[in-house]
Amino acid sequence: MPAAEAPFLLACRREPVPHTPVWLMRQAGRFLPEYRAIRSRMSFLELCRNPDAAAEVTLQPVDILGVDAAILFADILLVLEPLGLGLSFSPGDGPSLAHPVRSPEQVKSLPRVDVADSLAYVFETVRRVRSGLAGRVPLIGFAGAPFTLASYAIEGGSSRNHERTKRFLLEHPAAWSDLMSRLVDVTADYLNAQVAAGAQAVQVFDSWVGHLAPADYSEAVLPHMRDLFARLDRSVPAIHFSTGTGGYLELVRDAGGDVVGVDWRVPLDDAWRRIGYDRAIQGNLDPVTLLGPREKVVERARQVLAAAGGRRGHVFNLGHGVLPETPVDNVRALVDAVHEWSVR
Ligand code: CP3
Repeated sequence: MPAAEAPFLLACRREPVPHTPVWLMRQAGRFLPEYRAIRSRMSFLELCRNPDAAAEVTLQPVDILGVDAAILFADILLVLEPLGLGLSFSPGDGPSLAHPVRSPEQVKSLPRVDVADSLAYVFETVRRVRSGLAGRVPLIGFAGAPFTLASYAIEGGSSRNHERTKRFLLEHPAAWSDLMSRLVDVTADYLNAQVAAGAQAVQVFDSWVGHLAPADYSEAVLPHMRDLFARLDRSVPAIHFSTGTGGYLELVRDAGGDVVGVDWRVPLDDAWRRIGYDRAIQGNLDPVTLLGPREKVVERARQVLAAAGGRRGHVFNLGHGVLPETPVDNVRALVDAVHEWSVR
């Protein structure tokens, strides 16, 4: 099938589809025994830096689940390493940065990053995945959004309430803006290089931006998101994902993504009406649904499809990533149900 006719890309462009395409955030990961088998032989960062192994785990969900797109196996935090922040992952505790950014002076002294050199292994993975896919489904590249990256850079790891990050943007608005601009620079280069290597869509993950009040989003984040989307290679669709932003989806839309991802806290039909039907929408099943009985998975999936109303431009996904304890059979049942119930 020519790439242009893949249901996932058709839906991103709001063109008619034979069935609603479905893929799942974190579809390559710990819930798959085949992923755990590879991870038992190398650490997470070793896996990310090994293009053969990373390409293999990128392809696993395509073969095992029958999803309509592959997502590159990598991590949003990889760009923080060439910025000199000292990235590591420890089992159980998640990511940790040895040199977090805590002052305006530290922002000023961050190095300029040449992604072609420092993240070459990611682009090599993209090329290997494209050849392994042999046109079966499109490949999505991705990066973290500047706010979510800044929150890891400032907090030094995962955080419940992002206090240090929010204080930084209130106390040091000029340094905050400088940090965001630098993150936009590296993220635009990084995503454009993924597209040059063969990524057929890109997704920007703003996982934690929903912790901000709308006024802070408008002032401290939105101008940088607009700048980022304006600088992306738009020969491929750009998906803008965030969580917890149901209170200001109109602002998220104004950032300029082609496809707006929504979480499960907002009904998909309301979200789409507010975002506007001139954009595609992605979402929004609660990932925890997949831990429940099979009948509920299918029933809730049908409700999401009903909320999309058969309109052009729906990409089915979860509202956030697949949880590690998710039964594989439930995910297969979800993918099959979406395909079956959405046949046009
Ligand atoms: O399948 C896919 O979606 C592609 C691969 C992918 C990973 N991380 C692999 C991963 C993607 C798209 C991401 C994005 C990512 N990474 C986000 C945004 C999406 C989201 O969930 O909100 C964030 C916030 C991160 C940062 C991150 N990476 C954390 C906080 C952690 C530790 C917590 C956890 O889930 O383990 C990671 C590690 C990570 N990234 C794993 C995987 C498969 C688990 C690593 C392991 O095997 O132990």
